[in-house]
Amino acid sequence: MTSRITGTGSCLPAEIITNDDLAQVVDTSDEWISTRTGIRSRRIVKGESGASMAAEAARRALENAGVSAGEIQLIIVATCTGDLQFPGTACVVQKEIQADGAVAFDLGAACSGFLFALNTAHAYIQTGVYQKALVIGTEVLSKLVDWKDRSTCVLFGDGAGAAVVEASEEGLQGFVQYSDGKKGEVLSCISRPVENLIHRKEEGTDYRTPVSDYLTMNGQEVFRFAVKKVPECIHQLLDQTRTRADQVDWYILHQANSRIIQSVAKRMGVDEARFPMNMDRYGNTSAASIPILLDELNREGKLARGQQIVLAGFGAGLTWGAAKLTW
Ligand code: UT7
Repeated sequence: MTSRITGTGSCLPAEIITNDDLAQVVDTSDEWISTRTGIRSRRIVKGESGASMAAEAARRALENAGVSAGEIQLIIVATCTGDLQFPGTACVVQKEIQADGAVAFDLGAACSGFLFALNTAHAYIQTGVYQKALVIGTEVLSKLVDWKDRSTCVLFGDGAGAAVVEASEEGLQGFVQYSDGKKGEVLSCISRPVENLIHRKEEGTDYRTPVSDYLTMNGQEVFRFAVKKVPECIHQLLDQTRTRADQVDWYILHQANSRIIQSVAKRMGVDEARFPMNMDRYGNTSAASIPILLDELNREGKLARGQQIVLAGFGAGLTWGAAKLTW
């Protein structure tokens, strides 16, 4: 027994911010952003929340799978931008979609979040604990970026994607997952500081001194990490599942930067056409990027039953990994 994705859904905010819009507020240009990243526009919330987008993506995934909310036993929401400290976004989604029989919790692994959540749901399903799960990635990165910092604000976007995952004879064949906490500082964002009766926030409690209240990133370090570790872990997964790189129909990677994806394709000797991209329209939506792209391909009829798909995520933590599945 394994787990199979039987339906997908996504939800993007209505508001579109183009590179030219950003050039009005920071010293940048469409030319710089699009050539360095492949991003041309992104969506950002204006009224939507992480939970409202997640719930809408979940409804669409359930409809696509032909599964009712009442049948769902497990909801995992991958997010690093929850609307509330608690309850978790997954519990809000459970309420919104009326999945009263589900256990619901959030999982935080930044841009690898959807992949790790899918693997977690798979582990529950493979061991027979649950049979039907909803795995969701939802992010509102627009509240974590400093809109005065051109090195980060041009990269990110908001959105949500979801997948219904069910017990099946065919589906997920294997996965690999990694973390390297020692490199955590290359991409991080401070949480609420400790300030209480006996400790002032200026005294510092963190393992590092926060340099900003917003998301900070050493872009070049993250770039180098991604182009090395992603092909490495995909190769390992292909060995594990006894697959040649050219036997995979689609490589669906986290949508951070088109140059990262092109470099991975080149290092693997696989035609770039098998690495679909949509960061041109949505930017980097962290945990939501893989399920949004998966849903687009699914709804465009590009995914055929039996096709071999590799999903790969990478990001803050550092975290990275890949999963291989039969569609
Ligand atoms: O989800 C995973 C998280 N993130 C990633 O995967 C991101 C990985 N990294 C990257 O995608 C790239 O490193 C970036 C797109 C972030 C940056 O591209 P880069 O080619 O590494 O540029 P850079 O940081 O080396 O900056 C080159 C120049 C600098 O100017 P000087 O020092 O050469 O004069 C920057 O100040 O570009 C400047 N710059 C900009 N110029 C115009 C940085 N951001 C901008 C901007 N517009 N938005």
